Amino acid sequence: DSLMAAQTDADVPLVDISSAPPIAVPVLRSMEMARQYGPAFVQRLHGRDLMMVSSLDLVEELADDERFVKGIGPGLVNVREFTGDGLFTAYNEEPNWARAHDILMPAFALGSMRTYHPVMLRVARRLIDSWDRSSAAGAPVDVPGDMTRMTLDTIGLAGFGFDFGSFERDEPHPFVEAMVNCLEWAMTKITRSPELDHGERDAAFRVDVDYLTGVVDEVIATRAGSPEPGPAEDLLGLMLGAVHPGDGTRLDAENIRNQVITFLIAGHETTSGALSFALYYLTKHPAVLRQVQREVDALWGDQADPEPSYEDVGRLRYTRQVLNEALRLWPTAPQFSRAAREDTLLGGRIPLRAGQTVMVLSTMLHRDPAWGDNPELFDPSRFDPEAEAARSPHAFKPFGTGERACIGRQFALHEATMLLGMLVHRYRLIDHADYRLTLKQTLTIKPDDFTLTLAPRTPAP
Ligand code: HEM
Repeated sequence: DSLMAAQTDADVPLVDISSAPPIAVPVLRSMEMARQYGPAFVQRLHGRDLMMVSSLDLVEELADDERFVKGIGPGLVNVREFTGDGLFTAYNEEPNWARAHDILMPAFALGSMRTYHPVMLRVARRLIDSWDRSSAAGAPVDVPGDMTRMTLDTIGLAGFGFDFGSFERDEPHPFVEAMVNCLEWAMTKITRSPELDHGERDAAFRVDVDYLTGVVDEVIATRAGSPEPGPAEDLLGLMLGAVHPGDGTRLDAENIRNQVITFLIAGHETTSGALSFALYYLTKHPAVLRQVQREVDALWGDQADPEPSYEDVGRLRYTRQVLNEALRLWPTAPQFSRAAREDTLLGGRIPLRAGQTVMVLSTMLHRDPAWGDNPELFDPSRFDPEAEAARSPHAFKPFGTGERACIGRQFALHEATMLLGMLVHRYRLIDHADYRLTLKQTLTIKPDDFTLTLAPRTPAP
């Protein structure tokens, strides 16, 4: 808080944080800086400058695909050390981005969610079995831990026919720890002091990467060694078998590895956080919880074990609004970057060079005055259709923007909406520890150390 701002030529505050102490949750510092220095400021770190932007008017410009493309910011440059030219971290001009995008798109088309639905339901029931046991024993459940078990098993099975079996383990699957270590390495490397020796940390990182690569090879080998070929249209089937619709090329083995790591990480980490935040807010907002319960009761009544259909999930409108509102306050991928195609002026006053990267602070965009006077207030009615229609489409960007926006958005929303609906239908959520929200950040964000106890619900008549 003693950081002094200088002014850049364009009248944008410049804040050098090189000598600030290391911080566990960088997104909170960025938010603090945005509040202090305004909607555009330059953060200087060990001589490297990065523009941070957070107001709707500036983001509307950055979302213009004629002027800007996805930028690979410092965090993603580090993530490339373990995901290479996978979809998430590929440079726009790398030919493997368009090739993989075109080959994998069918797996995320509208009809595909219908294919994933039974697998998602199967894994949701694993979570419910586990929560039933905790509920009967009066034992607390580790919310983010169990959401991660659920989302990892789901992407493993739905995308690759590979079973992580996370609910049969007391500890998370070692894939999760190795992944978290790698993401943490990628995040903390940004703020490393160049004077110190980081050799030990880097060596540990290499060990984790080797482990992740080993899991990926096992996922691929399991399919190759299976007597029955897996579905040709799941992610792995498309990666191994499909040819590009335009030029007939295939993904090479190295790129397939990168894609499998990418999807295993991107396909579960953020969804897990989103579900955890949603459960946190439901626990703290009984009136909202009652409204979600009314919605699921209208569908499933007092059935002990409802069988949510694919269509049911589309009917859980308010439940989805709750997820959106949780993603507004805590977008679990809390920032994304844009890069200028040509030299340009942002907001008519901030000069950007061609290729220069600008970071969008989604957490602050989602608290822009466009959201009204009380943006900190959790209120799912912000996502009522009329309210949405009245707002700029660029005010809400939890899935990024443009051509490089999240390919898995429908997958995440289907999975998360169904699970949330099933959980509130079945349990009373008991805030036994009077939880106060604290964040854990490993590039993505989650509630830290959040537990609940559960009791069976007696459905409303
Ligand atoms: C891209 C967020 C779930 C796969 C992105 C981006 C964001 C995002 C913000 C753009 C990043 C950038 O511009 O640099 C989220 C959130 C999720 C979620 C908040 C859950 C609530 C998923 C799921 C999958 C997935 C379930 C896969 C099944 C990807 C991939 C990309 C991506 C592959 C890169 C797309 C490309 O550049 O072509 N996601 N995501 N995500 N996401 Fe997600």
